[in-house]
Amino acid sequence: MCGIVGFIGKNAVSNAMEKLRLLQYRGYDSVGVGFVEDGEIRIEKAVGKVDELSVKSESVRAVAHTRWATHGKVCTRNAHPHASGENWAIVHNGIIENYSELATGKTVSDTDSEVIAQLLEKYGNGLGSVIACAQKLEGAFAVLALEKSGKIYAIKQKSPLFVSEKNGEVVFASDPVCFCGFSDTYYSFCDKECAVADENGVEFYSFSGERIAKTPQTLAVEYRASEKGDFDTFMHKEIYDIPLAQSRIEQTYLPAFVSEVVSDIRHADEVWFIGCGTAYHACLFAVCVFEKAGVRCRAFIASEFRYSDVVPTKNTLCVFVSQSGETADTLGALEKVAGVCKTVALTNVGYSALASAVNVCLPTLAGEERAVASTKAYACQIFVFDILASVLNNAEPVMQKLDKNGLDYIFEEAKRVVKSFDKNELFVLGRKADYVTALECALKVKEVSYVNANAYPTGELKHGFIALIEEGTEVLIFATDPILYKKSLHGARECKSRGAKITVVTTEPEMFEGVGNVVKVSSYLCSVAFAFAFALECAKKRNFDPDMPRNLAKSVTVE
Ligand code: G6P
Repeated sequence: MCGIVGFIGKNAVSNAMEKLRLLQYRGYDSVGVGFVEDGEIRIEKAVGKVDELSVKSESVRAVAHTRWATHGKVCTRNAHPHASGENWAIVHNGIIENYSELATGKTVSDTDSEVIAQLLEKYGNGLGSVIACAQKLEGAFAVLALEKSGKIYAIKQKSPLFVSEKNGEVVFASDPVCFCGFSDTYYSFCDKECAVADENGVEFYSFSGERIAKTPQTLAVEYRASEKGDFDTFMHKEIYDIPLAQSRIEQTYLPAFVSEVVSDIRHADEVWFIGCGTAYHACLFAVCVFEKAGVRCRAFIASEFRYSDVVPTKNTLCVFVSQSGETADTLGALEKVAGVCKTVALTNVGYSALASAVNVCLPTLAGEERAVASTKAYACQIFVFDILASVLNNAEPVMQKLDKNGLDYIFEEAKRVVKSFDKNELFVLGRKADYVTALECALKVKEVSYVNANAYPTGELKHGFIALIEEGTEVLIFATDPILYKKSLHGARECKSRGAKITVVTTEPEMFEGVGNVVKVSSYLCSVAFAFAFALECAKKRNFDPDMPRNLAKSVTVE
């Protein structure tokens, strides 16, 4: 994953570091910056987040990097930039698959990236060397190479890279969000493109050395960098963003807007929903609501799907769900079916690789999401699916909207429940769509509070995992489906009889009186919001930063 920034202009180091802060969602285990001072390249690195590194320099050139380790443990030696002589410092996002074949000598770091610096030193200076290097590399890579001369070169293959220029200043970045406050226009790199930049601007070239003319794009308003406002974490703020995002979706997802997709769904033999992590849970939710609407459908984990033997017909419709639109496994799954059947993306990032590679792109409209654990994007994904299913059914959407008062209440309840929750293990149960919430809750709790939370369909209790229930075991049950209230109650009682401490999140509190803690919610979406709030409060209680949990990154651009 990793985030990379290049800056040409005044206060290049502090400007690059400032922009790098916006890319920490891509990884934050170590940080580094390379710059030119007194005609020499200087490199400074540290383990930890961007704020761990404080560098003062008047340099007008800098490349910077925030890392999510793939090759080599987290340590200063493995942090970027890498150099292999005096002429180049490189930062890299992606994986160089043939790095061991390319190495020209012993490397200082354990990374796959250092070989890029070795190759550049071997080939010499200037664009010719950069192109020669780019032609040798295999895998996924966005590279910024700072030359001692002060020029910054860029190479792109599969990993995202963008550039913007204005009044003699140039910014390269892994995400256009870095251009907020700098310029409203930017250029996207396509695969197998490179560039050279100095204070006179940027020139683009193909890997075979031909000059390329590119058209600038306009920065979308909804991706202007957001701030925490009155909230102490982005995760908290983003849960409170849900009502506004829902209104945006309602105003956009009018019947005419969705008519093509709805007709595709109607006419498909089968609809396959494909995603990873939280996005996969949205796929499971989609199956629940579309099956109800009479559609044959299936959900797949993208990383499994891409290597599975399942084959779509030309009448299968594949719907890819991804907040970032950049997840390597989801893009890999798309590659498997592209050209065979029609493809649709539901993504939050309109300029992402996924958005441009599918036949139809539906916007999630969640607005920028900074916290690693996705909350509002998930809420928006399921809201969109609910609307699509209702159009298919010619009915009103089932899902209710959230509002601030409702969220305040949910957070109070989550705090109350978390207060007495002090175990390192949690069982989360539910059935049908409530099982999807249980899965999502367990994932969030694991991600941000490191509690070993596992979700099971309540009905499976007696088929195995009841063996794990003992005195004091914490069990959280979601029960918002009227048809299954009674069945959920049986599950709750079976756990309680074995000494478990039960919390039930339900739209029918009277039914669960006496089994334990009962949290009354007014709708399915409120129970989802409770799942988010519960995970966030668990993280807070344990003093963990929910926005940047250990070992994770928001967009996983490696396989
Ligand atoms: C990573 C994140 C998850 C996210 C998943 C899919 O694993 O840590 O929170 O759900 O990627 O991301 P996407 O951008 O494709 O929705």
